[in-house]
Amino acid sequence: MSIQLDSTVLHPADLSSANTLGLACQAAQVFDLNQVSQLQLVSDIAHLKGAPLVLGSGSNLILPAELTRPVVRVMLSGIELVEKASDAWVIDVAGGENWHRFVSYAVDQGWAGLENLALIPGTVGASPVQNIGAYGVELDSRIRSVTAWHIPTAQMHTFSRDECGFSYRDSRFKRDGLGAWLIVSVRFSLPRPWSPVMSYPDLAHHPVLSLVKREELTARHIFDAVCDIRRNKLPDPNVLGNAGSFFKNPVVSDSQYRQLKLAFPGLVSYPQPQGNFKLAAGWLIDQCGWKGYRDGAVGVHDRQALVLVNYGKARAEDILALAKKIHRSVEQRFGVSLEIEPVVVPE
Ligand code: EPU
Repeated sequence: MSIQLDSTVLHPADLSSANTLGLACQAAQVFDLNQVSQLQLVSDIAHLKGAPLVLGSGSNLILPAELTRPVVRVMLSGIELVEKASDAWVIDVAGGENWHRFVSYAVDQGWAGLENLALIPGTVGASPVQNIGAYGVELDSRIRSVTAWHIPTAQMHTFSRDECGFSYRDSRFKRDGLGAWLIVSVRFSLPRPWSPVMSYPDLAHHPVLSLVKREELTARHIFDAVCDIRRNKLPDPNVLGNAGSFFKNPVVSDSQYRQLKLAFPGLVSYPQPQGNFKLAAGWLIDQCGWKGYRDGAVGVHDRQALVLVNYGKARAEDILALAKKIHRSVEQRFGVSLEIEPVVVPE
């Protein structure tokens, strides 16, 4: 291969404000992907320089101070209603679109079904990677297919929902690791007629929502309530660096759940279809006394123990050291091993 990659293709960039944790990060080789026709170049970069980090809004990443591996910033844009079937709205959205702006636009257009996922930071392309979920809706229930570029072989693939291998905060795109897939577009299928999802306790008891008559309820009401709940509980990354939930909610067996519930009657848990139980990691961490904890530049949010925050000058090592301490204390008290949710990017 005789490809030349000059400085107009790969350029250094400061990624400190391109990750929601606000970690200082200098990247040596960044490529801005603006068009689908440039995808071959991404594979060429991988071939010549090594597996790239595919970057959306950096809302689920822990970046090192110096990033030598190439970085591809996905800036593909476009939202298109491709089908208005009697049973679904079908919408194609490019990977670089901002997630919340798309959800807000969909609600404006009357394409209901994503409102429970309002205000989640990140891009549309990143959303299937960790199968985002909130307030009773997981993304996979709204996806028809995902079109992704396989970087190592330079080929485009379209995966049906089943082929995406979705599970809680996981997908084949995440499992295949850094540098394998670049999500080009996502095809959503939003079921019609719309039926609101309000089972989640925070929504079921929301003071404004509970005043709205069932027959008058719209996706906008739920969208507004979700935004309200999130603004109250979760820190705004523009004000205080964070990556949302830092740990996954752990799943334990029925027998472990029973033992824990006997010892800790306040344990917050959600029964799973397979007969095991998902535990609220935030509750476990809170019980260990971490909420509001601060150690220099890093800390635990004072309204949600599941969220680690950067007070300004934290490095990846500081965040990970705090995560390790929390992991250890939860394991000692409850015998439960927490798993980190964001992706730790090696240099
Ligand atoms: N809790 C505490 N103390 C805390 C935090 C939570 O006691 O400091 C208790 C709450 O009172 C509640 C339970 O734990 O009874 C669950 O808390 P919450 O409803 O706040 O949700 P979560 O389980 O902490 C998950 C997702 C969030 C998502 C919310 C709403 C994960 C890891 N997190 O959080 O997703 O927004 O449910 O559906 O699944 C994210 O992934 O970044 C994220 C924010």
